[in-house]
Amino acid sequence: MAEYKMRLTGEQQAILDGAQGETMAKVMKTVVMFGDIFGAKRLVPVTHKSGHLVTSFGIGLLKPLYKTMDELIDAGIKVQGDFTVDPRPIDYKNVKCSPLEKLLFNKLLYSRQNDYEQQLQKVGIKNKNGFTCACYLPEVGNTPKEGNILSWAESSAVVFANSVLGARCNRNSGMLDLFGSVLGLVPEFGLLTDEGRKASWRVTLKTTRKPTAQVLGSAIGMRVMEAVPYVFGLDEYLGTELNDETMAYLKDFGAATASNGAVGLYHINNLTPEAKRLGEELIRPDAKEYIIDDAELERVMQSYPVMWKNPAAKPGMCFIGCPHASFGQLKEWTENIESGLRDTGRKAVSITTIFTTAPDVAEAFRQSEYYPRLMATGAKLTSICPLMYTNNPLTKKHNIATNSNKLRTYSASRFYEDADLLGIIVGKGERK
Ligand code: F3S
Repeated sequence: MAEYKMRLTGEQQAILDGAQGETMAKVMKTVVMFGDIFGAKRLVPVTHKSGHLVTSFGIGLLKPLYKTMDELIDAGIKVQGDFTVDPRPIDYKNVKCSPLEKLLFNKLLYSRQNDYEQQLQKVGIKNKNGFTCACYLPEVGNTPKEGNILSWAESSAVVFANSVLGARCNRNSGMLDLFGSVLGLVPEFGLLTDEGRKASWRVTLKTTRKPTAQVLGSAIGMRVMEAVPYVFGLDEYLGTELNDETMAYLKDFGAATASNGAVGLYHINNLTPEAKRLGEELIRPDAKEYIIDDAELERVMQSYPVMWKNPAAKPGMCFIGCPHASFGQLKEWTENIESGLRDTGRKAVSITTIFTTAPDVAEAFRQSEYYPRLMATGAKLTSICPLMYTNNPLTKKHNIATNSNKLRTYSASRFYEDADLLGIIVGKGERK
């Protein structure tokens, strides 16, 4: 009797049996075992050859990770194409830290960062700018096409690729993302199949205004969890064509569905590619119903706990750009902060204000007229992951504010909608 349930081709079986060496055999074994757990019947080729990895930080404790990377490198194994990876954790130039905070970051938390980045280079990272969760942004260029099969991890990137780009990828975990890119093969199950892409929730929007992307995504994520929702009514606010603005909205919306729940794919009626092509055929006959009105969004907002030591305290700093901000979002925030500061009569932002974006987007932004304007407000631009900044127990005391529902969920940061966050940044209501 075969050891594994999945049917392998002769070539795949040979790799499993060691034809390409012991390390490749282990890589294949891991991917086959993963597929078996989820009932995959076969492996299918990865057709978009740029991978995306979730593990971007050199936390000292991840010793098995570094050992596995060394084993791959020693065996001369690389990915078949290239890959991007989630953001780096620290940038002392643009995100200032106290000496004690730095000590914790350097010695305790990210002590292996440089070593790990070298390992990433050796197995095939795209380039030094490949550190971003929004790898699909045009400036970065890791942008799959409809129908492409991917070996990616990072919940916000996977849900965007599946939903907005129409690619096919499961919510993989760290290392499986890399192993799939090494083999050029992934197990076929879940979101890789037509059946797995069908919606088991019918969500109808009945709000009186365009919902905040991160709140709507949060509401849907918390309700449907890992299921696929098909959303009606959002096209009334977003229109029926994908452009930079709607894609930025869907980026933030999707990240909230994926982190406040575990959504890997959503369909937006008349807007996302599969919904446009197949419409209500994508909805299972037994789909459950979720109606979202203004009161429901308010209920969701009110349900977020305030995790600051003193909930009545004022915010000390804020992060905007989780997932990493698009060029258009940076531009819009620059204009809004400038206009807000004119209204309040302040010269500069009233709290430490940090924008996070992909290194390639930051480079393009630095070349634009908006960069000096944003810097003139006192805000900072970086390419770190704000969540990794909050992993340091000492940074908790900063009372972090954010418009990211993912950052709120995984840290002690407090969520604000954009208009409220802008008010805080420009010191609205404060005496000068
Ligand atoms: Fe990206 Fe980090 Fe947020 S990976 S989605 S910036 S938590």
